[in-house]
Amino acid sequence: MKIVTTIAEFRQVRRGYGFESVGFVPTMGYLHEGHLELIRRARTENERVVASIFVNPKQFSPTEDLSRYPRDLDRDFHMLAGENVDLVFVPSNEVMYPPDYQTTVSVSRVTQALEGLRRPTHFDGVTTVVAKLFNIVQPSRAYFGQKDAQQSVVIRQMVRDLNFDLEIVVCPTVRESDGLAMSSRNKYLTEDERKGATVLYKALQSAKSIWDGGTRNSGILRAAMMETLSEELLARVDYISAADPVTLEEWHGEIPRDSGLLLSMAVFFGQTRLIDNLLLE
Ligand code: PAF
Repeated sequence: MKIVTTIAEFRQVRRGYGFESVGFVPTMGYLHEGHLELIRRARTENERVVASIFVNPKQFSPTEDLSRYPRDLDRDFHMLAGENVDLVFVPSNEVMYPPDYQTTVSVSRVTQALEGLRRPTHFDGVTTVVAKLFNIVQPSRAYFGQKDAQQSVVIRQMVRDLNFDLEIVVCPTVRESDGLAMSSRNKYLTEDERKGATVLYKALQSAKSIWDGGTRNSGILRAAMMETLSEELLARVDYISAADPVTLEEWHGEIPRDSGLLLSMAVFFGQTRLIDNLLLE
């Protein structure tokens, strides 16, 4: 496994891959099983696998957890080598955003709801860094987790709008045995918060069982999630949503029979903000 830190070095190695297919997994490091599943999927579908590790400052607001975002590069390299990754790109802030850096990539509509509403500058940061990484890596396919449902929708939109010549592959959320979605931020949870955090998945499941029973009323589905969440005293709900999975617009009243549903939520445990979602067809 080769590890490179500059764009020039990266391009030199990348050129050696010629016309081989390249699967790309962008990450912010502190890897977990969810990332490894993306890598494994990329491994089965491509001749080469490239990962990046970059904690992107542009997607954190000044009040968010950039400085305390967990980092452990040695552990990450060990895990990536174990998955037979060919090349890892680990740029510094100066490599990605030199002092005269001036460009932002911004997707307008699907960034407005859900996470975008609560974190207004977040998706500009994500699309800017992902566009830069796509231009550097030149992948055939790029892999993202369903856990960040809106991020996948936003990136797909950017790829369509800017004619990036690659396929976006969205892989299922990987969960702990008690249902908690894997996330680097789970590390911040105290023992009690960690126990309580299973309530996100329980809330999604409570709405799903109502949906499976034939109920299409979005208000009832949201109420079911809220009721389950309110049973956990440590949970502070930021939002719950029952939205169209394509436009991300909130459903009101009855959901049309031929439409899908994205159930999603953000919930605070102390200072830690967890998100989760379930896509129902
Ligand atoms: O999902 C993430 O870890 C990040 O948002 C990404 C896609 C690596 C961009 O920084």
